[in-house]
Amino acid sequence: MDPKSFIENHKDRLLSELFELLRIRSISADPSYNDDVAKCAVAIEGHMKSIGLENVEIYPTSGHPIVYGECLVDSKLPTVLVYGHYDVQPADPIELWDGDPFEPVIKKTDIHPEGAIFARGACDDKGQMFMHLKAFEILKEQGDIPCNIKFMIEGEEEVGSMNLESFIKNYRDKLACDVILISDTGMIANDVPSITTGLRGLSYVEVEVTGPNRDLHSGLYGGAVANPLNILADMIGSLHDEQGKITIEGFYDDVEAVGTEERAIMAQAPFSQEEFNASIAIPAEKGESGYTTPERTSIRPTLDVNGMWGGYIGEGAKTVIPSKAFAKISMRLVPGQNPDEITQKFINHFTKIAPASVRIKITPHHGGLPYVTHTSDPAYKSASKAYETTFGVPALPVRSGGSIPIVALFEQVLGAKSILMGFGLDSDAIHSPNEHYGLFNYFKGIETIPYFYKYYSSIRTNP
Ligand code: BES
Ligand code: MN
Ligand code: MN
Repeated sequence: MDPKSFIENHKDRLLSELFELLRIRSISADPSYNDDVAKCAVAIEGHMKSIGLENVEIYPTSGHPIVYGECLVDSKLPTVLVYGHYDVQPADPIELWDGDPFEPVIKKTDIHPEGAIFARGACDDKGQMFMHLKAFEILKEQGDIPCNIKFMIEGEEEVGSMNLESFIKNYRDKLACDVILISDTGMIANDVPSITTGLRGLSYVEVEVTGPNRDLHSGLYGGAVANPLNILADMIGSLHDEQGKITIEGFYDDVEAVGTEERAIMAQAPFSQEEFNASIAIPAEKGESGYTTPERTSIRPTLDVNGMWGGYIGEGAKTVIPSKAFAKISMRLVPGQNPDEITQKFINHFTKIAPASVRIKITPHHGGLPYVTHTSDPAYKSASKAYETTFGVPALPVRSGGSIPIVALFEQVLGAKSILMGFGLDSDAIHSPNEHYGLFNYFKGIETIPYFYKYYSSIRTNP
């Protein structure tokens, strides 16, 4: 049976099975959900077994478990390793959801007139990861599995994949593959499919500014003592100049410039600044001068405050000079930049600009390397052909602004490139309240993936 008819015949089950996964609160960041995360791993193990994968096993780590399963048909055929994650971001702020984040419902939206599944993890990444298990089910049903397929689904992506690195190092042979296939990114629009050819890297730091040894009365002391919140605001404000450039010394040193040719190709992808602004209700866009919005969010590095706190933030007014101020700052990196070096440059710069009236402490968090792949790669070509088969139009290559730090490590440790066949949309609100995933996207993903295996196997066997 071809993928399309299989999907037509099993629509209800394809949804109800995903819904079962979405009901599990597999929030990796919050230890109070550890049992739910473990339960989710068991559910995936069960699915892997039920679709006929072999050597299905849950691998415990010092964090959350990894689920593995494989189907090895012929050592002469190429091997594809599918990677995905079953953990999700916390649902907070819960009050901004229209319903329970862990009770999936289908609702129509302007962008998804045929309906979308609303739930935490619907798009990132349970819905997209599950498409791969269902696509495998189609191959199995067709009785024609064109290559060896391995699945590795982890539970710590949203917290930095800290234990996956040692897992892939320890199981290098088990995970040996020709290419890694991932659906954990997006595409331009439902009628403009795209394949992600790049991911940004990440450097993440937390800063603490300390002034006096206790909170002070802002009348008695105000004017004579450095206020850590004022100072931190100043320091953060100085991290960008008028042109929107980051002022950290050496920040751009290793950035690999993108050529005019690639920029011209990027500019061909449909984009409306007006629609972009309207979709997130901003009065005007802002960013580094000399670059378009799609460039600012993909080929350029950035620095953003993710959270900033200190002092009195309760009801009403309290007159106080806080003892401490804090901020969490992320830097998205592009090819050439190294997260450890950037973190060090941040530390040097921030220490240098701190006035003598305060003490500062900087704590680095997890980071990750940027990633790029090329359209000349046979795996890219196979993916491109698969999209063309099911969407009826060719897919555009696009660099994404998001990060999946393990992808660069896959290349280093397993020596294989990753092909990022994402089917989500930027408007799907991943990490936000009311995350959703289009029914069109879910079913189209399941339909497209089997063609990737078919084309990839034939390209590799008869290049
Ligand atoms: N799936 C996302 C990354 C993504 C989304 C890439 C859309 C491209 C398009 C992933 O789950 C994620 O959220 N990554 C984090 C980094 C991680 C270290 C927490 C990110 O990009 O913030
Ligand atoms: Mn993800
Ligand atoms: Mn995510």
